[in-house]
Amino acid sequence: MAKMWAGRTAGSTDKIADDFNSSIHFDKRMYRQDIEGSMAHAAMLAKCGIITPEDADMLTEGLKGILNDLESGELQFDLSCEDIHMFVEQVLTERIGDTGKKLHTARSRNDQVALDLRMYLRDEASDIMSLIRELTETLTAVAEKNMGLVMPGYTHMQRAQPILFSHHIMAYAMMLLRDNGRLKDTVKRMNVSPIGSCALAGTTYETDRVFEAERLGFGEVAMNSLDGVSDRDFCLEFMSALSILMMHLSRFSEELVLWSSWEFKFIELSDSFTTGSSIMPQKKNPDMAELIRGKTGRVYGDLMALLTTLKGLPLAYNKDMQEDKEAVFDSVDTVKMCLKVMIPMIKTMKAIPENMRKAAGEGFINATDLADYLVKKGLPFRTAYKISGEIVAECIKKGCVLETFPLEDYKKYSGLFESDVYDDINIENCVEKRISLGGTSKASVLEEIKYVKKELSK
Ligand code: ARG
Repeated sequence: MAKMWAGRTAGSTDKIADDFNSSIHFDKRMYRQDIEGSMAHAAMLAKCGIITPEDADMLTEGLKGILNDLESGELQFDLSCEDIHMFVEQVLTERIGDTGKKLHTARSRNDQVALDLRMYLRDEASDIMSLIRELTETLTAVAEKNMGLVMPGYTHMQRAQPILFSHHIMAYAMMLLRDNGRLKDTVKRMNVSPIGSCALAGTTYETDRVFEAERLGFGEVAMNSLDGVSDRDFCLEFMSALSILMMHLSRFSEELVLWSSWEFKFIELSDSFTTGSSIMPQKKNPDMAELIRGKTGRVYGDLMALLTTLKGLPLAYNKDMQEDKEAVFDSVDTVKMCLKVMIPMIKTMKAIPENMRKAAGEGFINATDLADYLVKKGLPFRTAYKISGEIVAECIKKGCVLETFPLEDYKKYSGLFESDVYDDINIENCVEKRISLGGTSKASVLEEIKYVKKELSK
């Protein structure tokens, strides 16, 4: 069949060129936005007297029918069409005749595709934000349920200071709050209507871009038609926000992998979210966490791909820009899948308090508190720090820990040591003393939880 744009050429392209050029196999997912956009366009054309109200009604009814039939499965996508825009217009014209041919007055596929993509991503962003909230709520519930469990906090992957498991978990809730904030900001700039920019230069028809934008829920209209059709910043911003989100999920996944290893065994993932080995009968592998970590690379890759595609493009629309969709769709699908797996995986994970507590008792993670004890008794911190370090070295030699190091031995290092030192280096006390805002004491973590809940309710 000759192409809809046949005229200047015969419109009969080589099959391999068609396959290469066509985008319907991936842009068909924007059918709803495309149809909604077209309905608003028809209404605008009628309002401005460019088409008659009867034509607008016919167009709207026809478009509604296409939407219903696509949703019910009665109408199938014709993959021989170049893209979703051509497909909808073609079916419309087949169904309602010549009036269908009026729909494309005062617009171009260039502003149409930019409109559809903004509308589509706006919807996806809101789905992703709901999933992020759900994950944040899940983390908060885990933190509340396991309140009081003590584990080592790490720096350089070395045991550093004792912390609450809930404090560690809530750190991820904080990251997710920022991820949600970033997406919200992205949507603000995404929510600008390009329709009416037409091919690149605007139009000679007396259109009403603001009317059309408002009908589609946009807060603003693009104020430069060249920019309107060639701006893909909203995709890049969105993918950047998703990349940062994935980076967070990946760091968390890495911890889940470590924590579920025999070396740590701080947690046990549910059987429903782990796999076995085809050869090693003892295995319980954290595949889901590993895959989330692995898929982070894809999302970064999507962002890099689109940045690179756009970097050399002159204004205005260039076909290169069709490459935006597969990248951004892949990011959307990947992120949604990862969040959907992560939520139940976290819900069903079990903490193993004994192992956390045991690890917290073995790494001299109360050495800072030992130094602080001497500071309280009047020593300058640097001197106290040195003495504490020497005591740790002796403990290691003797095979004991600070809690079991005898008082007589402490006294050899400083006459300031009394029996109350044992209270100060008690691991639970070390946690409970850290009452600073954002600190690891139970009181501080409860405050953090309250803060996160408040943010979530906004
Ligand atoms: N399928 C195209 C895309 O995704 C739609 C815009 C095509 N415009 C054009 N003048 N060829 O970018």
